[in-house]
Amino acid sequence: MSQQQFAAVDVIRTKRDRGELSDAQIDWVVDAYTRGEVAEEQMSALAMAVLLNGMTRAEVSRWTGAMIASGARLDFTDLPRPSVDKHSTGGVGDKTTLPLAPLVAACGAAVPQLSGRGLGHTGGTLDKLEAIPGWRASLTLPEIRAQLTDLGAVICAATGDLAPADKKLYALRDVTGTVEAIPLIASSIMSKKIAEGTSALVLDVKTGSGAFMKELAQSVELARTMVDLGTDAGVRTVAVVTDMSTVLGRTAGNALEVRESVEVLAGGGPADLVELTLVLAREMLAAVGLDAVDPADALADGRAMDAWRRMVAAQGGDPDAPLPVARHTQDVLAPADGFLHVDAMAVGVAAWRLGAGRSRREEAVQAGAGVELHAVRGDRVRAGQRIATLHTDTPERFEWAVQALEGGFPVSATAPEPVPLVHQRVTA
Ligand code: URA
Repeated sequence: MSQQQFAAVDVIRTKRDRGELSDAQIDWVVDAYTRGEVAEEQMSALAMAVLLNGMTRAEVSRWTGAMIASGARLDFTDLPRPSVDKHSTGGVGDKTTLPLAPLVAACGAAVPQLSGRGLGHTGGTLDKLEAIPGWRASLTLPEIRAQLTDLGAVICAATGDLAPADKKLYALRDVTGTVEAIPLIASSIMSKKIAEGTSALVLDVKTGSGAFMKELAQSVELARTMVDLGTDAGVRTVAVVTDMSTVLGRTAGNALEVRESVEVLAGGGPADLVELTLVLAREMLAAVGLDAVDPADALADGRAMDAWRRMVAAQGGDPDAPLPVARHTQDVLAPADGFLHVDAMAVGVAAWRLGAGRSRREEAVQAGAGVELHAVRGDRVRAGQRIATLHTDTPERFEWAVQALEGGFPVSATAPEPVPLVHQRVTA
């Protein structure tokens, strides 16, 4: 990293006036901000200038490198299997990581899936797995390595020292209206993924009402920016832009999603979830040269389920223990006869309000809370038919969840147009 000194205000002015930041300016400002030398108000002005004026490919690439350099960088190149990771930008009912990591491990790759907890309407992978009695999210680096070597899959909390600049900057963006800047989102995600030391990466960039990016063009731009960043950093990266206008699968909520994931591993489960799991598994295997292996076989013959059971047990979980069930349920009925639409955002917010998610980082989540769908987009329903069940331990939350679902299950006289699960594939 450059030791050259700058005045933060000059860096801000450069971006404010649509100039291109130099490598030395970027290295300095990220490092000085992480050390507390650049003030929060200065970084928030810079983040806003980036949101308004964007960054070139060279700038985002350098910015990402500076964020990686702010912390530790793991290296899994010495593992006996090639490593490949998946990142999803987050969606309602998106539990794909759970079946995917053991499935890809069963096909011969190592999957270091360092994950986070949820905040807002999309659930976090760790919150889901913590619904399994005994399961432990925090592993040491030697434990992560040992598990990757022995069974090829680990899903655990990211170690605290990866990209600390991002931790600080993300918290700032959250309160300054600058989360939505594509260069900042892309560098935030990719700095953590590249620092994690995977040799290949598959990105699942969601698009639609339940996604972070609602418009296809924005989602494709985010995918392109992240693929370029991975490629520039020497990580084989591919992205698929997938639909998040409706719920993935039939459940949103921690234990409910674990149960559905286990159904997929047992060879069943909802068709859309199985399809997305296989699309991502094929991309991951192709990225590390294992494309001769068909992941559908590993789902069908029980190898993926074996890998799941070993992965859960290795982290203290009991794969045979009954999953937590919420103490109270309430049904949601179809408002009219016709074809059902299911809005992802409405269901995500309802699940969150029922206790499946948190509004503050330190809040606990309810393992059993969430929304279970009995009908999905395009199904023909009759007025009064049960279309969903709400689950919570705290029944005073039902009213709040029902409010979120107002307009979330519209019924039409004609069948909705089918929506493709995969909208676009973005490669280097
Ligand atoms: N997820 C991240 O990790 N960073 C962002 O900026 C947005 C989503």
